[in-house]
Amino acid sequence: MKINPIRSICCIGAGYVGGPTMAVIADRCPDIDVTVVDLNEERISAWNDSDLNNLPVYEPGLDLVVSRARGRNLFFSNQVKESISSADLVFISVNTPTKQKGLGAGQASDLRWVEACARQVATCAKGHTVVVEKSTLPVRTAAAIKAILAIPQRQYLNSEVAPTFSVLSNPEFLAEGTAINDLENPDRVLIGGEDPEAVNALAAIYQNWVAPEKILRTKLWSSELSKLAANAFLAQRISSINSVAALCEETGADVREVALAIGTDSRIGPKFLNAGPGFGGSCFQKDILNLVYLCHHFGLPEVASYWEQVVELNTWQQKRIARLLVQKLFGTVTGKKIAILGFAFKADTNDTREAPAIRISLDLLEEGAQLAIHDPKVSPNQIALELSHLPSNLDPGLKGEGTWHPSKSVETALEGADAVLILTEWEEYRDLDWLRLSRLMRAPAWVFDARSVVDPEKVASAGLMLWRVGEGSD
Ligand code: UDX
Ligand code: UDX
Repeated sequence: MKINPIRSICCIGAGYVGGPTMAVIADRCPDIDVTVVDLNEERISAWNDSDLNNLPVYEPGLDLVVSRARGRNLFFSNQVKESISSADLVFISVNTPTKQKGLGAGQASDLRWVEACARQVATCAKGHTVVVEKSTLPVRTAAAIKAILAIPQRQYLNSEVAPTFSVLSNPEFLAEGTAINDLENPDRVLIGGEDPEAVNALAAIYQNWVAPEKILRTKLWSSELSKLAANAFLAQRISSINSVAALCEETGADVREVALAIGTDSRIGPKFLNAGPGFGGSCFQKDILNLVYLCHHFGLPEVASYWEQVVELNTWQQKRIARLLVQKLFGTVTGKKIAILGFAFKADTNDTREAPAIRISLDLLEEGAQLAIHDPKVSPNQIALELSHLPSNLDPGLKGEGTWHPSKSVETALEGADAVLILTEWEEYRDLDWLRLSRLMRAPAWVFDARSVVDPEKVASAGLMLWRVGEGSD
């Protein structure tokens, strides 16, 4: 089918993926109207806030991109039906979390919102509409979307103007914290689909700023699977280096040296070899579990358990860090103050989904610790939501119950603390004045650096004890 150049885009889902991606498309394609819609009214108001500090997603550079395009050809709206009706192309960018109950619970993706979007597009679209999966989805979801779009709509029965559709997969590979750069300078753009006209129409949008050779065209199923496989490979590298870190600690090796030594092999490469408290974020665990579910579904249990181990090692790493902190503090943290520096799952984002800080904090609370949590971007409300635990300044008393409270500064977090545990690699944690901070802490005080951000010599010369991930002693 002949498809006209795309002039109007609707994106359903104004989250971490939909918001920044559409902002960059609008910025780079001033001739295309881009409307981002969301059921969440508060989120849309935040995207429309005149104060760019209040955008719902924190991403370096996002404010500038939004300020250039918003109101010109970038719009944020709750008018879902109207926006779909006037769009030539609809991106589906809603969340696809791991199912909590029912068939496939704990592994399969919950596709209810994707299905709801497809049904809404089926009823509201006009003319020919290109429907693009942006959300990460299990392989063959496009078949379900196509089936829904093919259901004849009552209002068009016997009508010649019934809408028609092409379905494409166009997974997003942006990483949070570097989303704008990843979108503006992608390694590749992947478009999966069987309708070459529709593929070309979508490719033409990206060609406004991406070199044509970086736009990969594949079968639908290859595109869907590539997103899962890419995230699984990245996560696998992190579990691999974290497994080596544990061995380094036992053998006297140093994981930073090992990472350098193996990463300089051009076949391996240096990226994604930072040992840490384990991977977090909304994608890695969800996508691997999804892959595991698919493997079981297709009768490949060995393949499933291979990938499942990547997640298990990650959970183990988080539990290991909480456990070793307790052990080093004479086997008990009950009633002791521990400063947690960093709650976001990585630096330069306010996102806490699956952050290692959650499991580690919960384990320490279980042990009766008093946590003082500092993060430059994560709000106390968000921390309370993740810990399902209200903040409190109460002394745990003899009951030894764990408590936590938010700290506005690193200094207040460390005041009277027995230990500080660094869980996010925020820039401001890299050059802390340990000599001054050590005087605020209760001796013998520990620094637990799970992100390799501190200068070990400065910590040692401040009289503090230091544990760094993956550093063994002779
Ligand atoms: C999500 C998925 O997690 C990821 O797998 C996928 O690749 C892209 O979409 P993200 O943008 O980070 O990633 O999710 P989130 O920030 O939760 O945003 C999704 C938005 O969709 C939310 O704002 C939600 O309100 C909205 N939504 C959800 C709708 O507008 N309609 C729905 O029916 C469901
Ligand atoms: C990831 C993928 O990188 C991206 O392509 C995909 O679209 C979405 O999922 P994201 O989760 O935003 O992006 O961040 P990423 O930089 O991949 O980091 C994920 C987690 O791994 C973070 O918790 C990070 O701290 C951790 N990590 C990363 C390490 O522990 N060590 C590393 O060397 C790299």
